[in-house]
Amino acid sequence: MKIVKTIHELRAQLSGQNRIAFVPTMGNLHEGHLSLMRLARQHGDPVVASIFVNRLQFGPNEDFDKYPRTFEDDVAKLEKEGVYVIFAPDEREMYPQPQEYRVEPPHNLGDILEGEFRPSFFKGVCTVVLKLFSCVQPRVAVFGKKDYQQLMIVRRMCHQLALPMEIVPAETVRDADGLALSSRNRYLSADERREAPELAKALAQVREAVLAGGRHADIEQAAMAAIKGRGWQPDYIAVRKRSDLLALTEGQAAEPLVVLAAAKLGSTRLIDNLEI
Ligand code: PAF
Repeated sequence: MKIVKTIHELRAQLSGQNRIAFVPTMGNLHEGHLSLMRLARQHGDPVVASIFVNRLQFGPNEDFDKYPRTFEDDVAKLEKEGVYVIFAPDEREMYPQPQEYRVEPPHNLGDILEGEFRPSFFKGVCTVVLKLFSCVQPRVAVFGKKDYQQLMIVRRMCHQLALPMEIVPAETVRDADGLALSSRNRYLSADERREAPELAKALAQVREAVLAGGRHADIEQAAMAAIKGRGWQPDYIAVRKRSDLLALTEGQAAEPLVVLAAAKLGSTRLIDNLEI
């Protein structure tokens, strides 16, 4: 396995490869990320992973500075997964000048749900992802369904910009108690960690209520109130169409749905979703 820090070295290392499967990460790898590497291996060869904590996607009051950086550990895990190259640029390499050209997703997708509570998050994500794609030139890239909206936005970006690659979705990996794996879980205190699976439980209850034919707005409100009552601060619990992440309006024909949630437990903001 090679660890490369510059775009120049990366291109030299990957020259002539035309079946690259790529997994972009911000490091602090857990079993969820490793499942993405395994899926990548089924879709191409070699597997390339990037580790880069992307300042552009963090808001001014978010956790960029304290985001866990565990490079040595990450390298050991990727080595075991048979990753061929780790691309680990620093900020000077990725953004040698201020990144003035940015990729802005459409407002109807980028400004809702996560985008409403984290303005310019998806602009930061799309910008770095497109730049990473341009560096790695993969044939496929794997993204987790845990970040459901991110997956959809990146997929549409590839389609609209005619990038010659495929985005492969990976199922969310959960702990035995249902908590979706996330690098941010490590911020939780012991008490919060015990409470954290309640978010996934709330989503499962929403799913049941939707399948039982309840009104989506009522179900969402009840779920928000219930989780608030347990001490969470929810940003949203929303039942949306999988096709565009908009609400199903009255009278619209039924179509596949997903329930998405974001809520703070203490100072840790968790997101999760469940297809219905
Ligand atoms: O999902 C993530 O870890 C990040 O948003 C990504 C895709 C690596 C871009 O920085």
